Amino acid sequence: VNLAVFASGTGSNLQRLLDLSRLDELGGGKVVLVVSDKPGCRALERAAAAGVATFAFYPKAYPDKPAYEREILDRLREHRIDWIVLAGYMRLVGEVLLQAYGGRIINLHPSLLPNFPGKDAIGQALAAGVSRTGVTVHFVDEGMDTGPAIAQEAVPVDPGDDADSLAVKIHAVEHRLLPEVVRALCRGEVWLDNGQVHWRPQG
Ligand code: GRF
Repeated sequence: VNLAVFASGTGSNLQRLLDLSRLDELGGGKVVLVVSDKPGCRALERAAAAGVATFAFYPKAYPDKPAYEREILDRLREHRIDWIVLAGYMRLVGEVLLQAYGGRIINLHPSLLPNFPGKDAIGQALAAGVSRTGVTVHFVDEGMDTGPAIAQEAVPVDPGDDADSLAVKIHAVEHRLLPEVVRALCRGEVWLDNGQVHWRPQG
């Protein structure tokens, strides 16, 4: 099962997937391509260090989103990608990729969706004064963080928490939850049917 991971920044979640891929602990999944809209970002360095192919592009070098997504699609096909994992990819996926990979794209988001979609979900949660937030892994549709949830886990917001301390707790959960979901997808234990998420009963 060939995986492409899309990332725009640090890539700590990407690193987890790269490590587990190398150890063959992703349910048969292999990270074979890393795509980034931020040439030079840390995530791309991590991919290179792991010996994984990369495709980096400047969105502004293209006339529009369909144009760069068609180029991404060429690379995905070249590498026979089965699943796309968005791990800190800071762009909305457009029609070209959704047409080709609908139901085979997942995203990681640092809140309990539908709460706090979009940018700076951690800051949004702190500003709202909630006592718990969390992590969601969901299928991607045309909306901003709106697709059906596959897995969610709560993280408490403690009285002394600031953006940094809360981010540390959220990342710890992400680093466990995202690989769990990717493993389940690769094993065919979870799938999307008619907009509904199904899990194969365990046992
Ligand atoms: C994660 O918190 C993820 O939920 C959000 O972007 C962050 C990426 O972190 N979409 P990293 O680049 O994996 O360290």
